[in-house]
Amino acid sequence: MKKAFIVANWKSNKTIEETEKWLHVFQKGFLSKESVFEGKTVIISPSFTLLEHANYCSSNLKLPIRFAAQNISPFSEGQYTGEVSGRQIKEFSDYIIVGHSERRRYFHETNRELESKVAMSIEYGLIPIFCIQGSKTPIPKDVEIVAYEPIFAIGSGNSDTPENANLTAELVKKQGIKYVLYGGSVTSKNVKSFTTSPNIDGVLVGTASLDALEFFKILQNA
Ligand code: PGA
Repeated sequence: MKKAFIVANWKSNKTIEETEKWLHVFQKGFLSKESVFEGKTVIISPSFTLLEHANYCSSNLKLPIRFAAQNISPFSEGQYTGEVSGRQIKEFSDYIIVGHSERRRYFHETNRELESKVAMSIEYGLIPIFCIQGSKTPIPKDVEIVAYEPIFAIGSGNSDTPENANLTAELVKKQGIKYVLYGGSVTSKNVKSFTTSPNIDGVLVGTASLDALEFFKILQNA
């Protein structure tokens, strides 16, 4: 069985209290069916404000999950008001989501800035999960994990077809990328069609990851 990355992108959602609730519900699923974690790397990506507490709760609950931040400063630590540096993020995360289309669209992140963000991630020992919107999106060097997330599929309830996602993943792998995930309206109902596609190594889940039970089902069905 190939290994799958199952990533929850919570975006700008949840308070500390809601995060605790989510983790407790998720733990119930885990205790009833630990085997669903076999062969899977489960990564949760909450906002910066939640990362520390989510880490603390997850280790208390003994959950086999890892964390990802949703952004990183393109600079080292220093005089960059409002930014969170790689060194700070490393205290709470192993992974980092870079290049999401929402960051490109609403925060005008350019390919050049994304290159700096990837370089910073690597400098601080964080593994970037680099989002692309199609096989032609430039991918910075040293990236090993890419998430193919077509814009029309994000938050729309209208996912790409597994065939097209697999074809895109194949093209991306030809560029030397090791793992390609699919993201865009993934649910517990359609997840298997993606994870069983030969070139797809997992999923990046937004909306459906906000509900702990639904996310657990995604894990079960993947
Ligand atoms: P979605 O979001 O699952 O709500 O479509 C995916 C993403 O943007 O990562």
